[in-house]
Amino acid sequence: MKNFINLSDIRKDDLRKIIESAKLEKKQSSKKKKLIGKTLIMIFEKSSTRTRLSFELAIKQLGGEFLALNPKESHYGSGDESIYDTAKVLSQYGDIVMMRAHKHKHFLEFSKHLEIPIINGLTDLSHPCQIMSDVLTFEELKGPITNKKIAWLGDGNNIVYSLIEAAVQFNFQLAIACPKKLEPNKKIINWAKNKKANIIVTKNPKEAAKGADAIMTDKWISMGDHSNKKYKKKLLKDYQVNEKIMKLAKSDAIFMHCLPANRGEEVTNEVMDSKKSVVWLEALNRVHVQKSIIQWCLK
Ligand code: CP
Ligand code: NVA
Repeated sequence: MKNFINLSDIRKDDLRKIIESAKLEKKQSSKKKKLIGKTLIMIFEKSSTRTRLSFELAIKQLGGEFLALNPKESHYGSGDESIYDTAKVLSQYGDIVMMRAHKHKHFLEFSKHLEIPIINGLTDLSHPCQIMSDVLTFEELKGPITNKKIAWLGDGNNIVYSLIEAAVQFNFQLAIACPKKLEPNKKIINWAKNKKANIIVTKNPKEAAKGADAIMTDKWISMGDHSNKKYKKKLLKDYQVNEKIMKLAKSDAIFMHCLPANRGEEVTNEVMDSKKSVVWLEALNRVHVQKSIIQWCLK
């Protein structure tokens, strides 16, 4: 059974196949209904716009159907049924699950009891589907991502976790600028370094942005982040992506953001709405990548 949980679990050539088939899916705009009779079950423990709608569109375009389970309106979220029992039931109703969970640990626990594949639609640890869409977007605009320089400015969060894994799996340079206290997960940095990845972590946003092909950021406060918000924003104020920072990157560099954004915090309006910004394409490409990920899991 093929789960899609973290990019470091999946073979490099499989990730490349997923990207190439997403490019084809986009070209063909899914005229072939390849998943007639298949059902995707979606569980969202926290809010979503893009992940929810792009998975709905993806399965519809493939000829399949979806069911959505709202934890607030089911036994799953109330604690009056074990996750083992819920997983057993869902395994009979659907062919594949996509879940957005508060805790990655809980996601893994649930996945162990399922008898059908599961896709990680974001946890506190990672967001692999987003980064796959970002690789597709980058390559659509700039060609192969191999050896290109991607800069990350801001919080060392779940998005950058998956980005670090992608730097290894797709062989690109990654420069992460963040305050010392907000550095990304140490385990994944060490994993990447052991794999001889071309990654630097610096406190200096200018160093990271210099000569970059793409500059990426995300909200300073993620969903379910209970840290002292005022203090965290103060630590991050020098890591805003603004026109000054964009000027340090290559002249044709792009700006990327998974969205939702907090305009005026991690990114200025000028950058979000500039010609360099590819944020809407990133959101659109989620649909094509999801189609490819679902099919990879079901093969
Ligand atoms: N980027 C992303 O996953 O957006 P949503 O939270 O809207 O799903
Ligand atoms: N880091 C953000 C990503 C949202 C898509 C969060 O976890 O809230």
